[in-house]
Amino acid sequence: MNNVQDSPIGVFDSGVGGLTVLRELYQQLPRESIIYFADTARLPYGNRPGTEILKFVREILIWMAQQNVKMVIMACNTSSALALETVRSEFSFPILGVILPGARAAVKIGQRIGVISTPATAKSGAYRQAIQEINPNAQVWQVGCPEFVPLIEQNRIYDPYTKQVTLRYVSPLLDRNIDTLIYGCTHYRHLAPIFHEIIPPTVNLVDPASFVIQSAEKELKLMGLYRNRSAHPTRFYVSGCPNTFSKISQQWLGYCPVVEPVSLPKIVRSSWAREETEVLE
Ligand code: DGL
Repeated sequence: MNNVQDSPIGVFDSGVGGLTVLRELYQQLPRESIIYFADTARLPYGNRPGTEILKFVREILIWMAQQNVKMVIMACNTSSALALETVRSEFSFPILGVILPGARAAVKIGQRIGVISTPATAKSGAYRQAIQEINPNAQVWQVGCPEFVPLIEQNRIYDPYTKQVTLRYVSPLLDRNIDTLIYGCTHYRHLAPIFHEIIPPTVNLVDPASFVIQSAEKELKLMGLYRNRSAHPTRFYVSGCPNTFSKISQQWLGYCPVVEPVSLPKIVRSSWAREETEVLE
């Protein structure tokens, strides 16, 4: 018979961004079994309206509940910013988002904080709110970066164009003398080699992925859900093409995962928009 401690943790994102969270999970909680879902048929989330994101998140959580998860980690800032508060009380398992852990980590080290994220996360103001609730004197600038997720999902990380785009998004923040920069979208850590070339060493880079796993560990222990036996292999599911996901993921996972398709209701393609860089004060 299965104890609830032995149930998997559900992790989801629109695509490969959540693998940055998965990697932290492997390091910090190696005994936990994981189900990873990527909503690749409907990415990017970050150019969509909040009502749509909420609908997608509910569908994913209903599916996660059917997989008997003991906890869900939203490895997606956009979902955390626009849906977490609403859905948290709708399900019986704990649901964790990345924004609060990221904000807490940033205020410990910075006062002038830049956030790069999807346009939807930037417009929601979720990071500013979370940061200023902890430190009302902290200054926060948010930039929506609509081109990053498509570039990463197309595996164009080392394309010179990606570096140009990175400069365009980050320069207005560097002009404001930020001391801290938050990866406000889980995909962006995959661009770390580019950021390390562009961002001066005086600016602290904060990846909320690492801190959400610390929160998950606390919560699991508190709720008696912590697992003590060795983990089962991670099960990967996508709403789009399993092969595409498997191929691109290999570079971050170190192996080519077996990926299964899942059909969620009505798939609507989002446009991969290009917008001017705007700093939200
Ligand atoms: N990786 C997700 C996030 O953190 C979603 C990005 C997207 O699909 O636009 O926001």
